[in-house]
Parts: sequence; C-alpha cells; structure tokens
Amino acid sequence: MTNGLGKFDKFPRAELAMVPTPMEAMPNLSNFLDGPNLFVKRDDLTGLAMGGNKARQIEFYFGEAIAQKADVILITGAIQSNFIRSAAAATAKLGMDCHVQLEERVPNVDQTYRASGNVLLDKLFGATIYSYPDGEDEAGADRNINEIADGLKKQGKTPYIIPLSPGHAPLGAMGYIVAAQEILEQLKQSGQQIDEIVVASGSTSTHAGLLYGLRALGSQLRIAGICVRRNKEQQAPRVLARCTELSKLLGTTEYITADDIILNDVPLAPGYGQLNPLTIEAIKLAASTEGLLLDPVYTGKVMAGMIDRVRGSVYAKNANVLFLHTGGQPALFAYEPELTTALDAT
Ligand SMILES: Cc1ncc(COP(=O)(O)O)c(C=O)c1O
Repeated sequence: MTNGLGKFDKFPRAELAMVPTPMEAMPNLSNFLDGPNLFVKRDDLTGLAMGGNKARQIEFYFGEAIAQKADVILITGAIQSNFIRSAAAATAKLGMDCHVQLEERVPNVDQTYRASGNVLLDKLFGATIYSYPDGEDEAGADRNINEIADGLKKQGKTPYIIPLSPGHAPLGAMGYIVAAQEILEQLKQSGQQIDEIVVASGSTSTHAGLLYGLRALGSQLRIAGICVRRNKEQQAPRVLARCTELSKLLGTTEYITADDIILNDVPLAPGYGQLNPLTIEAIKLAASTEGLLLDPVYTGKVMAGMIDRVRGSVYAKNANVLFLHTGGQPALFAYEPELTTALDAT
C-alpha cells in the first residue's frame, strides 16, 4: 500500500468484498433534519451474502486461513451475528467447512429472533451450529470454540478460528485500513470535503481500523464512533487498545491518542441488540426519506447517534457528515414482531 502502513502489504488477503463501495448524498434526510449535508458510504453493498462491513474484515482472516491450509473455519458471536453469516458464506464460496457458535447475548428473545434473519442464512450456507449460554463471557466462549477446534483436529481436520475477543492480531481491523484508503481516494476524485465520519463502534475493528488507517495515511478526518455494545467509558480503552495492536502488528509508530477517540452512546440503552424509540425513529427516517434500509442492532443505532449529534448542534450548518453504512439488514427480519408493533403504533 503506502508509506505509513509498515508491513501492511505482507499480510495475505482473500478477495471477498466487492469494493470500492459507492458514496452518495442523502439530500432528503439532510433537509428533513435541517442540519448539515449528510452523505452515506454504502458498505452495505460489499456483495458477499447481503454485504456489510464484515466482508471487508474477513478478507484478512481468510487470507491467513488459506495460507495455513485450513479446511474448516470456526467463529463465535451473537445469535444474529452478521460476522458469522459473512464467514459462513465465505466458507461456502471457498469450499471449506464452517462451525459456528451462537451466544445468548440479547435477553428475552423470541422464536423469530432465533430462527430468521442471519440464523436462516447460516443454515443455508451449511454451517454446523452450536450454542453458548452466556454472551458476556468472552473467555468462556473462546475456550468452548477452541475445544470444538481440538475435536476437529482429532478427526484430521485443519481448523482456523476467527477470534472475536480483544488480545488477538487485529486482522479484521486491517479491512478498514483498506476502506480508509478507499474513502480518501473517493474524496480526492470527487473533490468532496467531509468533516466527520460516523461509524459503529462494537468489537472496534471498524472504528479502530478506519481511524488508524486515516491517520497512517496522513488524514486528520474526524471519526465519531457510536457505541452499539458497551458504553463510552468501557469502549474508549478498547478502541485505543485495538489501534495500539495495529501499530504493533504493522511495526509503525502509534498514531492514535485518546483525543482521537470520540464516542456517543446515547442510542445504546437498554443494551446490545435491544431496540429503543431513537433507533426505531432512525430506521424509519432513513427508509422513508432515502429508501435506505438500516438494521436494529447496528446501523439503526449509528443513525440515531448521528441524528443525536445533528440535534445537539455538534455540526455547523454547512458541515459535511458521512454515515458509514455497515450493513446488517438481514436482522430486520429477526426483529419483525417488535418492528411491526412499533410501526403499527405510529
Ligand atoms: C452490521 C454491522 N455494523 C457494525 C458492526 C460493528 O462493527 P465492529 O464489530 O467492527 O465494531 C457490526 C458488528 O458485528 C455489524 O454486524
């Protein structure tokens, strides 16, 4: 790639995402909110099995898995995980087996949540499904998936685990270094100025990868992360740690300081994967003004966070703000009963 990114070019990458993804204006939503000029980067259109940010992130994991001659991929995550769906699709495409562990992370879910959306797609891709009872127990979930991998090894398989918890090589975040370069190139080509990018901050791979990539490539573009899993006090050190892991992996200086990390957790309550009125409003607004589909767990909350920043007068009237659409739409169907109730009530 370019100077500033150290050993980046040495990492194997499997081409799975259809990139570059388009960037477009959202004039109707901008008018409706009577705030800054809003734009969207369509990473929901990365192609692989209904798209999303995870198609970019798994490119580096699958690059390493192929280099290790792995024939089975293991991954753990929430029941409605887009990461799992994207990985399961990639294994089908690459002729590998897939074992997935679905964690109980969202309280009081119904049968639609357990069977529709991403779970249905995981089954279509032929994944072998396990469940894990505690979605907050990252160490336990990791231990369990490692035990499954050990069992597969005994059967003569060559497993590769895509890790979710912190403390592993940040290969997923590398996908968003690629996206940072893509965004800078698109802005250069179009002559469009952007004052802030608003992005989901969950496992941190997207937020940290984008932030690190921009700074490594010499851009001071501001990134605002919207918390979708943990509150901002818990999330800030995680984002910083992921950036430090990137500089270690690539052998570069540490570009990111705590001042670079801007977080908003207003739309998070009552917690991960749980709807609230702000998120429902955001999903409805994007659909009714721009024909843009958001999801209940991630992008709906990120849009709600962006709207909160517009209404909180964070931006000048002539500012340009880019919403990073990270996909996740299959989960709309997993939340159908709750969404229908909310829509029918308005
Ligand atoms: C659709 C979607 N958007 C955003 C995120 C959050 O991205 P990250 O985990 O890289 O923080 C996820 C994570 O699962 C996701 O599935």
